[in-house]
Amino acid sequence: MDWGMKNRLSRIINPKTGKCVMLAVDHGYFQGPTTGLRNLGKTVNPLLPYADALMITRGALRNWIPKDVNVPIVLRMSGGQSILKELSNEIITNSIKDAVRINASAITCSVYIGGEYEKETIANLSKLVDYGEDYGIPVLAVTAVGKDMVRDARYLGLASRICVEMGAHMIKTYNCDNFEEVVEACGNVPVVMAGGKKIDEKSALEMAKNVIDKGAVGVDMGRNIFQSDNPVGMIKAVRAVVHEGKSVDEAYKIYESGK
Ligand code: R5P
Repeated sequence: MDWGMKNRLSRIINPKTGKCVMLAVDHGYFQGPTTGLRNLGKTVNPLLPYADALMITRGALRNWIPKDVNVPIVLRMSGGQSILKELSNEIITNSIKDAVRINASAITCSVYIGGEYEKETIANLSKLVDYGEDYGIPVLAVTAVGKDMVRDARYLGLASRICVEMGAHMIKTYNCDNFEEVVEACGNVPVVMAGGKKIDEKSALEMAKNVIDKGAVGVDMGRNIFQSDNPVGMIKAVRAVVHEGKSVDEAYKIYESGK
């Protein structure tokens, strides 16, 4: 990896622990004013001191996040659809120049393996990888799962490996049984876990613990943090699992103590 690419990645994955807690708040790009993000700044700004990186769109960033904040930005570069239509029908919405203006530490798009627009989303990823290689900006590939797909190691391993083969520098995928097989399919490319729909806090911490134990470098969680009844406590609890190797019970106490 070139110096700039490696340096940007080191801003996201803490070199001391080799781990990362990314906060995903990009849901509005297809879900609109998602529960918890209606006033995005009010929810997200108190969480920033505990986030190793923030995954967000350029519009949300410019509207709700202060310019002097010192959090690495993972810039969502894809969109073009909504929850009312076919989700895999995405395009790249941003120029690389705007990612540079924003000082993005990474750029990201979703890939829908098995989706109606599979080929187009793989082409989107390839375009971002070309941008990334040109400018030294790592690319996080998100393995989005269409409604007909099963979230198992076979499917997620297939989707993740295709993203690796396309040149992605980091993979975001879902928790599943035998998660270590997904990690293995990605070789040396770091893997982070997407949280998915809101579940109870203990189950979300168990999910984070499972992927860390199976080789993920961290998590990129959204709703299970910002839709919690104690978002700051929850992100601190997730950090304890990811960075400090705490047990689920120890981390759960951290979540509860801040209530
Ligand atoms: C979905 O495509 C978005 O990229 C979200 O960032 C992602 O789903 C992670 O958020 P959550 O943990 O809420 O699933």
